[in-house]
Amino acid sequence: MSSSVKTVVRAYQNYVNGQWVKSSSGEMFPVYDPSTEEVIAQVASANAADVDQAVKAARSAFDSGPWPQTSAAERGRLLYKLAEKIRQNAAHLAEIECRNTGKPIVEAEYDIADVATCYEYYAGLANKVLGHVNPVPANALSFTLREPVGVAGQIIPWNYPLLMAAWKLAPALAAGCTCVLKPAEQTPLTALEIAPWFEEAGFPPGVVNIVNGMGEIAGAALVAHPGVDKIAFTGSAAVGKVIVKSAADTLKRVTLELGGKSPNIFFEGADWEAAVDGALFGVFINQGEVCSAGSRILVEKKIYSKFVESMTEKAKRIKLGAPMERETKMGPLVSKEQYDRVSSYLEIGKKEAKVAIGGGRPKQFGKGYYVEPTIFYDVENSARIAREEIFGPVASVIPFDGEGEAIRIANDTPYGLAAAVWTRDIFKAFRVVKALRVGIVWVNHMQPTYVEAPWGGYKQSGFGRELGPWGLEEYFETKQVFVNLDETPIGWY
Ligand code: NAI
Ligand code: MG
Repeated sequence: MSSSVKTVVRAYQNYVNGQWVKSSSGEMFPVYDPSTEEVIAQVASANAADVDQAVKAARSAFDSGPWPQTSAAERGRLLYKLAEKIRQNAAHLAEIECRNTGKPIVEAEYDIADVATCYEYYAGLANKVLGHVNPVPANALSFTLREPVGVAGQIIPWNYPLLMAAWKLAPALAAGCTCVLKPAEQTPLTALEIAPWFEEAGFPPGVVNIVNGMGEIAGAALVAHPGVDKIAFTGSAAVGKVIVKSAADTLKRVTLELGGKSPNIFFEGADWEAAVDGALFGVFINQGEVCSAGSRILVEKKIYSKFVESMTEKAKRIKLGAPMERETKMGPLVSKEQYDRVSSYLEIGKKEAKVAIGGGRPKQFGKGYYVEPTIFYDVENSARIAREEIFGPVASVIPFDGEGEAIRIANDTPYGLAAAVWTRDIFKAFRVVKALRVGIVWVNHMQPTYVEAPWGGYKQSGFGRELGPWGLEEYFETKQVFVNLDETPIGWY
């Protein structure tokens, strides 16, 4: 497959205080189209000094200037304007997202619609935040103010670039915070495309700043910076642990969303076609580069062989292709690094289990970081491919005998982000729902995610919640105001 369109390599700088600014070192890093392996952009690489400049801009926008005087209703209106601009330019943004991540264009279009919906949701929520009056004794009045936490440092991954930016920026801005966003170095382009739209919508300069660069440099500088009040992070558990340790020095607030090894559980009697579809969709959507990927497929022994067979048959029909083609159902992985990581797990898997389908690079592509949709079966839950997040189109199918064993295997993981259970027996469904130690359980579905409902993990999948009112909550401090109504002196001394 070859691209006939000549690639225009664009340069992007950091976006600080409403201006494009070069990094102080002058260094740039390349950004790729993972389907062609071509460089499609050059982006400024921020170091600690550049991050410091962005934090100072966010700090001063938070501490002074028009932003602290902007009412919640007005913040909501600005978010609506931004959402509208995103909707008007959805096709353009979807194309950039598609080219930069390698995800199928149809999926990128859904993502951009979700981005706009996320800004709209928090636009509407901005002025619905209420304090409390607290029932203290009659000679006093106590109430609480909900105040923005301050400058939010937001570090996001490459699998849903503009959507992850929206999950972070929209609630922070609704709450009245200012932001320094660090996109993933693999996929900064859509966030940079919309960077000037914030001021265009009416946000004051310095409220949204974007610094680009490597996690270990730009990301680490943001986490360590004393001018940042809170870090919101989505990415690997390994980096989440580094962030918590570093943030401890300044006791920043931290919220983490760290992925998992989510069980997708199938009982005898589940609707067959829907279940087979759900098993494939759960693990192969977005090339399997999904924090909640149903990468452990637990199947009841009575239906196990036939289920593996049906999954395999259907997986043969998954259309791999160029991301911009509308029939494409699976594109390349995001980067060479991710391709190598996933490929190494394919080799590990071949030693640990049996291969039903896939296991390597699809033959038809000369270029691009494509990996075959792969199903391993007869996987032990102790195997590395059942314990470690692979973040690619790799399923581990594990047999189980009865509800008790399903629950035990499902919970036998350091992670706790998501799970799904498929059955027509509602008693069983809800018993399993209650027993699972995860932040979301789908029943007879897997993956749909709505901005109105909470998202986040138990155990090593992180802490804090995003989306819904829960996501807004994470950007507030609570201040108690105590008013003495009694004019007599305290009389203690
Ligand atoms: P990563 O966790 O290294 O990167 C995510 C973000 O964190 C990026 O913006 C990166 O620049 C930043 N970062 C990296 N090191 C940092 C540091 N020391 N301080 C501050 N920020 C830092 O993820 P990576 O290396 O791209 O992928 C590795 C694995 O992580 C994947 O195979 C997958 O298992 C997991 N992952 C999970 C995601 C999720 O949605 N939960 C998203 C992306 C990756
Ligand atoms: Mg990394």
